[in-house]
Amino acid sequence: MTHPSDLRARLDAATASIRARDARAPDIALVLGSGLSPFADTLVDATVIPYPEIAHMPVVTVPGHAGKLVLGKLPGAPDGPVVAALAGRVHFYEGHPMDTVVFATRMLISLGAKTVVLTNAAGGISPTCRPGDLVLISDHLNMQGTNPLIGHNDPTLGPRFPDMTRVYDPALRALAQSAAAAEGTELREGVYVGLTGPSYETPAEIRMFRALGADLVGMSTVPEAIAARHMGARVLGISCVTNLAAGVSATELSHEEVEHTAKATRERFIRVVRRTLVSIGKAER
Ligand code: HPA
Repeated sequence: MTHPSDLRARLDAATASIRARDARAPDIALVLGSGLSPFADTLVDATVIPYPEIAHMPVVTVPGHAGKLVLGKLPGAPDGPVVAALAGRVHFYEGHPMDTVVFATRMLISLGAKTVVLTNAAGGISPTCRPGDLVLISDHLNMQGTNPLIGHNDPTLGPRFPDMTRVYDPALRALAQSAAAAEGTELREGVYVGLTGPSYETPAEIRMFRALGADLVGMSTVPEAIAARHMGARVLGISCVTNLAAGVSATELSHEEVEHTAKATRERFIRVVRRTLVSIGKAER
């Protein structure tokens, strides 16, 4: 277990290595899920920093996760927010300790981001979910069997026992709803259950999670949301339903299907997220 002062030192070194490349403080941190990384390439006036060039950044191993930080503006919004987009995230199933899984999120908050937008590819548990749906996360179930805050707490980062009553900020969700409506897209809301993976679930597990109140299932997002709330940042979560969860349909699951649906949904995802970030930027001003 790493000591928190070590965490603070690693965060300081990481933010210094980013500031040396681009002095802008981001307003919004954006974590891009499987197949959704190309959003980062739509930023303009951008500085691209590959993860290996950032001190202490873990290297990403999943196909479809590029592994670079893009700091820039949204196209058509020169007075809008500075966005720091992470194209590629590390997952617990890659074998990293939890403090490494949430390191990049903490780093962007340390750089100045007050808002963290977490996106992911997810399986649809709710019978009303369809592949290609974009769903706002209203709440989560942490079923990863651990918590990124376990260990010594550094009070300069956040409190020992942070409240989790409203992890996914209601005001940000309202902004996302308006943005989706303006783009002519429906944005439903659902509860996300975060599991470790990397195996997909069994149909019996999915029936259990449905009974427990989950609408979406995935292998990310929950640790980052907890760490972001720990540091006092506001969180918005958006899932792209890439497949029906195991047993909801008769077909077997594959990472190829996840990537294929994410790719097919990408253009709509980019429009909704872009408009949402512009309105978050306006609301923050
Ligand atoms: N289960 C877990 N994680 C996922 C899924 C799923 O069905 N789809 C995309 N990520």
